[in-house]
Amino acid sequence: MKFLSAVAFIAPVQAGLRFPCSTLTFQRLDPVVEPGSNPSAHVHHIVGGNAFNSSMTGDVSTRATCTTCQMSEDFSNYWTAVLYFKHPTNGSYHRVPVLPVQPLLGGSNGAEGGLTVYYTQFDLIKDNLKQNAPIKTFQPGFRMTVGSPTASSRPHTGLRYQCLTGNNRGPETPDFPTKPCSGGIFATQHFPACWDGKNLDSPDHQSHMYNTIQSDGFTNAPACPSSHPVRTPQVTYETTWDTSKFNSMWPSGAPNPFVWSFEGTSGFGTHADYMFGWKGDALQRAMDKSECRYDGCGSITKQAMATANKCTVKDMVGEETVGWLSKLPGSEGNVAWYYPYWKLAPPLYKLN
Ligand SMILES: *[C@@H]1O[C@H](CO)[C@@H](O)[C@H](O)[C@H]1NC(C)=O
Ligand SMILES: *[C@@H]1O[C@H](CO)[C@@H](O)[C@H](O)[C@H]1NC(C)=O
Repeated sequence: MKFLSAVAFIAPVQAGLRFPCSTLTFQRLDPVVEPGSNPSAHVHHIVGGNAFNSSMTGDVSTRATCTTCQMSEDFSNYWTAVLYFKHPTNGSYHRVPVLPVQPLLGGSNGAEGGLTVYYTQFDLIKDNLKQNAPIKTFQPGFRMTVGSPTASSRPHTGLRYQCLTGNNRGPETPDFPTKPCSGGIFATQHFPACWDGKNLDSPDHQSHMYNTIQSDGFTNAPACPSSHPVRTPQVTYETTWDTSKFNSMWPSGAPNPFVWSFEGTSGFGTHADYMFGWKGDALQRAMDKSECRYDGCGSITKQAMATANKCTVKDMVGEETVGWLSKLPGSEGNVAWYYPYWKLAPPLYKLN
């Protein structure tokens, strides 16, 4: 994520939105990949609107009454796999806490945990680029994913890790850092930005979208192809996993002890899910502005993060996901655990 992280420290930047969302919940639910399953296969870290549930259809913004995101008209949900520390000698697991990303950018605005969301008009944010194609925002009911827990040999496009030390993000790597990071592990996930213009979802939750960037997620985007002609905002998540308190339990020279919540020992299998839920035309209004410094040129209402932090959902799964655990939640008695359900259409992977 060369350009995005570099530009984050430089003003001015091009049009687009960047805002913090506090943690809404950690639960084993996945209304995109396993709708209706409670619990789903593995734990997710979820931010955004309080309409989040095991199954979500229709216009989310009409059901949510609050959001953990700074943009108060954004009732979308954003979620990723969760990082756990696997103790190298006794094998116990502990969930890794999340820190707000914003301290690196000059102030957390009071976010609690969570992740930072970007909606940009280009696959590359760079000072000298202008909007060259109209951006059409997502429609109510729209959802998509990037990545797959079964990926074991290469990262999905735009997935990058950085080993944080103090205020330094360090070089990007496609896989987990190989040494302890005093400031935590920074993970970036980048979604495709070309839509087929018809489908709010697809059986694999990915093929209704197309990424014009195949090698590096952060080079300038070529035009969308005729199969996916509609240019949407480019959505990016940044999460800081606070691994610092586990570093003393990482023996020198030992392999990376952090695993994703599906027991993913390589960094490649993490994934991100997006459920659109902006109210009315709020996101479109922001995307129609051409010279914004990440706040929608005042076209979007912000709320204090102290207010956002009060938004919650109840625990719908009822299991322990934090503290020292002998097994990862869902690692036993769940066929979906090792099954490549990600690649299958909904009726096949619905197990419950
Ligand atoms: C969540 O979904 C379940 C099952 O469809 C439903 O019974 C419940 O009312 C929903 N909860 C919320 C808060 O929408
Ligand atoms: C593993 O080590 C951690 C850290 O010392 C400890 O808290 C946990 O209880 C241990 N687990 C087992 C099963 O001994």
